[in-house]
Amino acid sequence: MKLKSSAVAHPNIALIKYWGRAVDHPSYLNIPTNDTVSMTKESIESSKTGIDLITHTTIEFSENFSKDTAFLKTNNELSVFDQSQMKRILAVVNPLKELANVDLHFKMVSENKFPTAAGLASSASAFAALATCTSNALNLGLDNTELSKYARLGSGSAARSIHGGFVWWKKGNSHDTSYAEQICACNEFNIAAVIAVINREEKEVISNVGHDSAHSSVFNPIKIKESERQCVEIREAIMNDDFTTVGKITEKNCLYMHSVMMTSDPPLFYWNPNTLRVMKRVTKLRYQYFQTAKLLKEGVKQKEKEGIECYFTVDAGPNIHCFCRTEDIEGVQGFLGDIGIPESDIVKVKQADYGSKIIEDHLF
Ligand code: PMV
Repeated sequence: MKLKSSAVAHPNIALIKYWGRAVDHPSYLNIPTNDTVSMTKESIESSKTGIDLITHTTIEFSENFSKDTAFLKTNNELSVFDQSQMKRILAVVNPLKELANVDLHFKMVSENKFPTAAGLASSASAFAALATCTSNALNLGLDNTELSKYARLGSGSAARSIHGGFVWWKKGNSHDTSYAEQICACNEFNIAAVIAVINREEKEVISNVGHDSAHSSVFNPIKIKESERQCVEIREAIMNDDFTTVGKITEKNCLYMHSVMMTSDPPLFYWNPNTLRVMKRVTKLRYQYFQTAKLLKEGVKQKEKEGIECYFTVDAGPNIHCFCRTEDIEGVQGFLGDIGIPESDIVKVKQADYGSKIIEDHLF
């Protein structure tokens, strides 16, 4: 048995969101109330921006360790994960130890290749990397379906970060039936995104806690029902390279989730005024694009093409992902700059061709 292994994983951005755990299952299983769909993402020009959307994790099991330890590596310094983070790490590692019939303590070090406080950190890449290297260190040889189930125990959205490209997480109705599968590989559908980082601070209510309040919103049943339908529609649109339909559904689903958040008890407001300002400008930019396209179609002379077809989505925080066609990525970057987003807060992302994978480079 190797007992030591490392893995890297990319975060993902949900097009159809996970918000709320199914009440008829133990909450530690993180079984969602509806199926969800996402794009696994990777940053473009990471050497220029210093932001590489990737988590690198090493784990080692040894009889020399008298207890389990886990550290976050930032700028070459190690800090110990707090108790609640450790609980989530153990939620992934312990079941895998049990499966392998191994009773040894571990040391784990995890590093995000992007500023930890950049508002881009994602538990998805962290737990996908952790499940992947732990399974390998314990010689379990789990396939992606199995890895997806164990990654989910750390953070629901991590179930999707096991795969690259576009991913569907089937909610299922047990630990064994709730896992993610790839819809299509990287670049089979022409889409990219530009992130506007509105706030680099950590969110006040982390999603792991927010999930518990979704049921208190009267809109939740509608969001669940609509999301199920939207998953089917968006998969069809992704397979048909239908960007307009994907964009429209993505934006609607984001607004359904935030409607639930805002009408929960207590209400959760993840946007700040700047978030709303950018969302409105994105809508306007798209409106201009459709207006111009209509006029051009009607043969009305235009000075130049105006607007860009782009759509927003926002997770449990104030930052905005603007989806566009890959050829429009610089255009959207320029637009965000023009409306006052500093260059250092604009991050271009493309589809990642893998979710998580084993690497030989160990962090200790
Ligand atoms: O996996 P969690 O518990 O961090 O929840 C993710 C929740 C959202 O990012 C808001 C939506 C999603 O599906 O990723």
